[in-house]
Amino acid sequence: MAAVLPRRTKFLLSEDRIPRAWYNIAADLPSAPPPPLHPGTHEPIGPADLAPLFPMGLILQEVSQDREIEIPDPVREAYALYRPSPLHRAHRLEQALGTPAHIYYKYEGVSPAGSHKPNTALAQAFFNKQEGVKRLATETGAGQWGSALSFAASVFGLDVKVYMVRASYDQKPYRRILMETYGAEVVPSPSPTTNYGRKVLADTPDSPGSLGIAISEAVEDAATRDDTKYSLGSVLNHVLLHQTVIGLEALEQMEMAGEEPDVIIGCAGGGSNFAGLTFPFLGRMLRGEASYRVIAVEPEAAPSLTRGVYAYDFGDTGKMAPIVKMHTLGSDFVPEPIHAGGLRYHGMSPLVSLLKDQGVIEAQSVHQRACFEAGVTFARAEGILPAPEPTHAIKVAIDEAIAAREAGEEKVILFNLCGHGHFDLSAYEKYLNGTLEDYEYPSDKVAAALAGLPAIG
Ligand SMILES: Cc1ncc(COP(=O)(O)O)c(C=O)c1O
Repeated sequence: MAAVLPRRTKFLLSEDRIPRAWYNIAADLPSAPPPPLHPGTHEPIGPADLAPLFPMGLILQEVSQDREIEIPDPVREAYALYRPSPLHRAHRLEQALGTPAHIYYKYEGVSPAGSHKPNTALAQAFFNKQEGVKRLATETGAGQWGSALSFAASVFGLDVKVYMVRASYDQKPYRRILMETYGAEVVPSPSPTTNYGRKVLADTPDSPGSLGIAISEAVEDAATRDDTKYSLGSVLNHVLLHQTVIGLEALEQMEMAGEEPDVIIGCAGGGSNFAGLTFPFLGRMLRGEASYRVIAVEPEAAPSLTRGVYAYDFGDTGKMAPIVKMHTLGSDFVPEPIHAGGLRYHGMSPLVSLLKDQGVIEAQSVHQRACFEAGVTFARAEGILPAPEPTHAIKVAIDEAIAAREAGEEKVILFNLCGHGHFDLSAYEKYLNGTLEDYEYPSDKVAAALAGLPAIG
């Protein structure tokens, strides 16, 4: 008989434990988030206003107050390609840091596209297909979301056009090839294929692009074609909802490990992987059943939660998408081309912003060199090469583990390792050869962008 290992590294659930329902935090919030507003009239918008962009199945989820929303069987069957994802105990990282802390990470890099993004891409492709949509238009920053939606579209038989932020298009050609392999059409954004893209190129021919610009191009594409809807990889309530499969599984897996986290950490670009891991835990906290420290980590180059204002703003640079109340650096703000392309966004999900405003969650911002240092420490201890985005979560998890060592505390730390970095090797090369730069917080550019906030009420 095989000997039982003295310590357990992975906590695995069987396929029948793929969650049957997503968790909707709206049911547990102390107050409802302020309503989204029409970009032209500034009046609250309803489901009918969103219909040109999204299928009704997703719009109803966007405004739902139900605590649980059933996951359709075809989506669960597609989730079974990679879910449940593993929860790891980072014994080797703990040893490398010499910390008494117990570090756990939920690993979403096992999905076909390499990140958490397919959790919502599959759901979005399914609900669009169900309502007869033929084609999806979307933006992508790092290329992770574009790969995820291209994969999901191939699963459910839809066409996709991806507007890929120019900085990432140039830094990550292999992400483009992956999207094309799944059957997508990919153009660099700003692109000459939309009115908005042509306008940006006329003003700034060498624009590195931004998520805000690429969103405007994809929204224009969807709004001007009958066969096409728009698909967003983060920020919106229904996207965060779909990602809660991460935290629902993690709750069960932490129970298998016989531990409760003291600190839960996720990186935050638009907020979806952070929300995906933390919302099921925060739901417990909001219902008075548990207490956790929950930390969102963002780049110093685009620090919306830590240095932005909580105000109504446009979700996109072209001012076509609904206006939402969120932490923002101003929709005209174009972040420096850091390698964590998925975190280069001027705003933040309204739900995550509300929780930050109410003091339920904390936020920290970090420079990219310190993040890559943490990513390399992690890779050398645990073997997995993290995507640049989750190195932000790793950096703060390591800081917490070192603080626990200094204090002699056996703290339990859980973070979301939301993607692998196999397509990000040029960034690691720059870190390793000492040419990776940090960008100071661009206070002048942010002040200028904040001066352009819409005047609401
Ligand atoms: C691996 C990875 N992590 C994080 C993000 C940031 O998005 P979000 O905050 O919605 O998780 C992205 C976005 O592209 C990503 O690809």
